[in-house]
Amino acid sequence: MIVIRDLDRALVRRSTFWSGEPGLDLWFREQASQQERRHNVRAVLAVDDDAGRVAGSCSARACETVADAAFSRGGSAERYRVPAVLIARLAVDVDYQGRGIGRLLVADALERIARVSRTLGFEVVVVHALHEAAARFYLACGFRRFRDQPLSLFLTTRDLRATVAEVDPG
Ligand SMILES: CC(C)(COP(=O)(O)OP(=O)(O)OC[C@H]1O[C@@H](n2cnc3c(N)ncnc32)[C@H](O)[C@@H]1OP(=O)(O)O)[C@@H](O)C(=O)NCCC(=O)NCCS
Repeated sequence: MIVIRDLDRALVRRSTFWSGEPGLDLWFREQASQQERRHNVRAVLAVDDDAGRVAGSCSARACETVADAAFSRGGSAERYRVPAVLIARLAVDVDYQGRGIGRLLVADALERIARVSRTLGFEVVVVHALHEAAARFYLACGFRRFRDQPLSLFLTTRDLRATVAEVDPG
């Protein structure tokens, strides 16, 4: 069974995790815990409890982005900085890819972020895809592309809250 656990509470071996993206794998093995301790990111793992393996991981942190015409109010071309939340370092182990775990991790992150949106203001959730295949994955998860940066995608907080409210009306 796949369960989502906070990184700092998941007692599971991480050394065999391999997503096929060396930069992501290295970050996960060598920097994730340290960045958690510094409150720089919050990371969760998708853990395969039966196999005792990490199936995937995902993290989130506060950030700032530049609104572009894709989501600015009234489609204005004016560029201004807005508070945002970044979903980052999403990776699924190659043995588990294509089984819905990436989607599960994104859905879990969005639920958590929607809860935070009750106490903290931000206009948009952002992801920076490493490549076009990852961008297409995020499109399948409901994100839209920034007009000026096709590998960066967003979900407005308004859309996030509307989507998650269908699941969690509280
Ligand atoms: C990209 C990644 C996170 C996707 O995770 P996954 O568990 O394999 O994807 P899922 O099985 O949850 O797929 C969810 C949806 O995205 C779609 N999707 C997944 N990969 C896709 C791709 N390369 N191109 C187009 N659509 C894709 C699936 O078809 C599925 O849509 P559906 O539910 O409508 O059928 C994973 O393949 C991965 O970790 N890759 C290596 C690391 C990486 O590139 N990370 C992204 C960093 S930005």
